[in-house]
Amino acid sequence: MCGIVGYIGYREAYPILIKGLYRLEYRGYDSAGIALPNRQNELNVYKVKGRVSDLDEFCKNKDVSGTIGIAHTRWATHGEPSNNNAHPHYSQSETLALIHNGIIENYATLKEQLIRNGYTFQSSTDTEVLVQLIEYMKILNKTDLCTAVQMALNQVVGAYAIAVVEENNPDLIIAARKSSPLVLGIGEKETFVASDASPIIEYTNRVIYLEDEDIAVIKRNAPVKFVTIGNVEKTHEIIKLEMSLSQLEKGGYPHFMLKEIFEQPRTLRDCMRGRVNVDCNNVILSGILDNRERFFNARRILILACGTSWHAGLVGEYLFEELCRIPVEVEYSSEFRYRHPVIFPDDIVITISQSGETADTLAAIDLVRKAGAFVYGLCNVVGSSIPRNTDSGSYTHVGPEIGVASTKAFTAQLMVLSMMALCIGREKKTIPEPRFIELLQELNSIPDKVEQILKTNDKIKELSNIFTYAHNFIYLGRGYSYPVALEGALKLKEISYIHAEGYPAAEMKHGPIALIDNEMPVVAIATNNGTYEKVISNIQEIKARNGRVIAVVSQDDTTVKNIADYVIEIPSTEECFDPILAIIPLQLLSYHIAVNKKRNVDMPRNLAKSVTVE
Ligand code: M6R
Repeated sequence: MCGIVGYIGYREAYPILIKGLYRLEYRGYDSAGIALPNRQNELNVYKVKGRVSDLDEFCKNKDVSGTIGIAHTRWATHGEPSNNNAHPHYSQSETLALIHNGIIENYATLKEQLIRNGYTFQSSTDTEVLVQLIEYMKILNKTDLCTAVQMALNQVVGAYAIAVVEENNPDLIIAARKSSPLVLGIGEKETFVASDASPIIEYTNRVIYLEDEDIAVIKRNAPVKFVTIGNVEKTHEIIKLEMSLSQLEKGGYPHFMLKEIFEQPRTLRDCMRGRVNVDCNNVILSGILDNRERFFNARRILILACGTSWHAGLVGEYLFEELCRIPVEVEYSSEFRYRHPVIFPDDIVITISQSGETADTLAAIDLVRKAGAFVYGLCNVVGSSIPRNTDSGSYTHVGPEIGVASTKAFTAQLMVLSMMALCIGREKKTIPEPRFIELLQELNSIPDKVEQILKTNDKIKELSNIFTYAHNFIYLGRGYSYPVALEGALKLKEISYIHAEGYPAAEMKHGPIALIDNEMPVVAIATNNGTYEKVISNIQEIKARNGRVIAVVSQDDTTVKNIADYVIEIPSTEECFDPILAIIPLQLLSYHIAVNKKRNVDMPRNLAKSVTVE
């Protein structure tokens, strides 16, 4: 949440910062701002409520000169989206400007202290408190900016990724992080700082990930120095990133979401590459095989995640229980950490996260690690916080996912979970060898089948025209398809703002069936698997009450076609891999409905891609 970018070097900073903000806009987009110290000893701050394009427009006739600067795109936590609450925030004397991603939890106490010392505030943000505190420390202790930042951060409770610049010092940026991501890009005579590598990759692939409580002293024409808030000097290894610029662009698609939906055959293949080998009938996940004893003797698997990743976790529950005979519990990270969970040292905890930065999942990881459980991270963003805080894990390898609504990351999460279940089940012998081979061959065919489904895009688009103005939707599924129903409903809600609920099909009779009338579209996942007959009965119950049914069916289906109002066909597969296929038409349906409703598909209101606050 919130995107931070900073630059110091030999080029003009403004164009780099604005471009960086566009790349980071998926992290938050209710206001944006920029601070530029220049050689005339001025520190210009420009900020507006609205999008990065509004900021760029606002800056048209302003002095944006200089080769150093910091910029921010906001997702509001404390204080509504407004010009005043936008970052950067000046200190009282307007000699410091600061940008922040995170939450200062004790901001109220700090603010009171500062007010008692004569400070006044222009905004209702927690961030302004921090910049004032830094200035206060600087003046009180007659010290330099880095030491003042150290002193201030030692008083702060909460999460932060910050960058600070000062007037009269156009050669220095101080950056720091705790529980919010921050990465440095190390170029030739130039340094970048950002919330993630997307604004940096165009200029350098050499990066350093800051660790909690690190402060980076970024000086012009000098190597970056690192010190902790406890004043311990540190060094960091430079990592070479494998990311290309084309991954950050729409590549001819009108939206990132559509591009990412259509990338899925390739991303699924990438996810399997080097792991699934059908010639030797093998699946190799080193994260599991290197820790085989822990996995094979696990008393239980606990899966922790949020949002779409939690839906993937539910599919994981079905997979591990069926194929590995290990009991599984799936928990929202945010709920798990605030009760008193029983965690056994021989539990395996699998955490799932696209971004690897979700604050609740990170906090839940802390909790389970303290209890001695083994933590396996299933993540997309390489080098993010979750993989750095887990014992072992697997990347999904789908490249940057920029659309706020998760699509390709979800199907790759399902793919990794499927590979994990096959790998563990084979070693534990809970999957007989002939069955293992059958399943592996089928898994290998999944990307081709996804490709086939994508060819029905035009038909799904037509269908979307019929339902664009519905006010409510219900999504139904049973067994493996139940999490798909939840995910289909979430996709529709988040990008079209239509109310949608996912429900286990059989539970309809216990309440929600009262909602059914001819105004209520019901999307039923009725593929030809174990619960097929039962789902048909559930569809009949809806039809008997004048409900309108859109059914996702297997290609060879004849029965549902005669009952449902509309059908979307997908290729048949093994029941346990069905979710990877069944979600594709639902992603497309939500996409087209949202486009018809003229929604901002890639940046839906109130949302941000990476939820780095609790
Ligand atoms: O990065 P994570 O996978 O940890 O994010 C979890 C959720 O915030 C995320 O899946 C969210 O629900 C998406 N917007 C869903 O499309």
